[in-house]
Amino acid sequence: MFAERTSLVMGNWKMNGGVAESVELARELVAGAAHLTQVDIAVAPTALSLTRVADVLAGTQVELASQNMHFEESGAFTGEISPVHLKESGCRYAILGHSERRQLFGETDALVNRKLRSALNHGLHAVLCVGETLEERDAGRTGAKVERQITEGLAGVRDEDLGGVVIAYEPIWAIGTGRTASPDQAQEVHAAIRTLVGALYDRSIADGLRVLYGGSVKPANIEALIACPDIDGALVGGASLKAESFLTICRSVADAGAS
Ligand code: PGA
Repeated sequence: MFAERTSLVMGNWKMNGGVAESVELARELVAGAAHLTQVDIAVAPTALSLTRVADVLAGTQVELASQNMHFEESGAFTGEISPVHLKESGCRYAILGHSERRQLFGETDALVNRKLRSALNHGLHAVLCVGETLEERDAGRTGAKVERQITEGLAGVRDEDLGGVVIAYEPIWAIGTGRTASPDQAQEVHAAIRTLVGALYDRSIADGLRVLYGGSVKPANIEALIACPDIDGALVGGASLKAESFLTICRSVADAGAS
């Protein structure tokens, strides 16, 4: 982690936990995170739990994120979630283009780009998820895949808006599989992402950009990951569903920031 970037740990609860369970988990996190500085913390509950979790998080340092978002403000888009409503509900971040959205729900780079620009226009911070399949990695196409997802995902985003963007590198083969990218594998891609953003924008913007790692992050592997110079936090799925493991991850990241 680079000293000038505040690390971010974000819990992606995916389609887990009803409203009561989410509120309870949020309460535990708020209590456990009370003394954690040097790290930004956010959680992304299901859409149904957002407002109730927002009430628990209000005034604390744990922030709220949505797992998805539509690009339009309102209208005939059955089942979709408006950026205006997310903002009204207290969301600070919107996770966009998660590999599950891309693979299971057909989201394209062009769609993710529309969502991302809309999120920024509505004052939400966009967490742009990118990453390769195992097949792509084995074929040596990791760099090309990630480059395409970032270039197309950020198309039309101006320099001055990039402060609202976080990139999450999540190799698909490491998500929910227990198989983490090694720190070296992750660092290599993170550094390439920063170089790419430095070429698309400018180096100072790239230096300020937070690039999170995601994919089977847990208490046992976070320390080695966060020690890498271009890894600025984590997007955590499974290990964010228990307060103890998520808080342990947050603590490790905070300690790395303090040292
Ligand atoms: P995981 O999920 O930590 O369960 O691998 C990460 C993610 O999909 O964001």
